[in-house]
Amino acid sequence: MTDNMEKLLVEGLQEMYYAEQQLESALETMARQTENEEASQGFSEHREETREQVQRLEQVFEQIGQNPETREEQVVKSLIEEHEAFAEDNDGEVLDRYNMATGQKVEHYEIAAYGNLTSLAGKAGYDDAADLLSETLDEEEAALEEVTQVSEQFDEREISSD
Ligand SMILES: [Fe+2]
Repeated sequence: MTDNMEKLLVEGLQEMYYAEQQLESALETMARQTENEEASQGFSEHREETREQVQRLEQVFEQIGQNPETREEQVVKSLIEEHEAFAEDNDGEVLDRYNMATGQKVEHYEIAAYGNLTSLAGKAGYDDAADLLSETLDEEEAALEEVTQVSEQFDEREISSD
């Protein structure tokens, strides 16, 4: 693998190391402010998983012979900032629904990011790192499925109660 491709992998990992740490605290906030029990519990559980994902990234850095470092990541950072602004002016049902949408957007992004990193790590011959990254990818996919299901149920209930 060329130095530039290796850089793509390392910087991508650094960005996720940054994003996951931001998400750990954002998920705690979302779990606390969401009234819908299922959604709140989902955020809480994914927060625990996120904590493990941070540690897993540290293992990945070790596998590829790098120190864990963060690199500012703009997408998740912006989603979290947007969420904070919305939560300042809204509450109840509408905030619950917004939180579900935020969860979905974040998971879609993470799935794309981890999918690429898994592939790049494999391509570079870091098989153990690729295995670790694909474990996280599986968790993000499961989290997306869960939050999507909860939001669809939420919408169905809203429609039938109108
Ligand atoms: Fe994550």
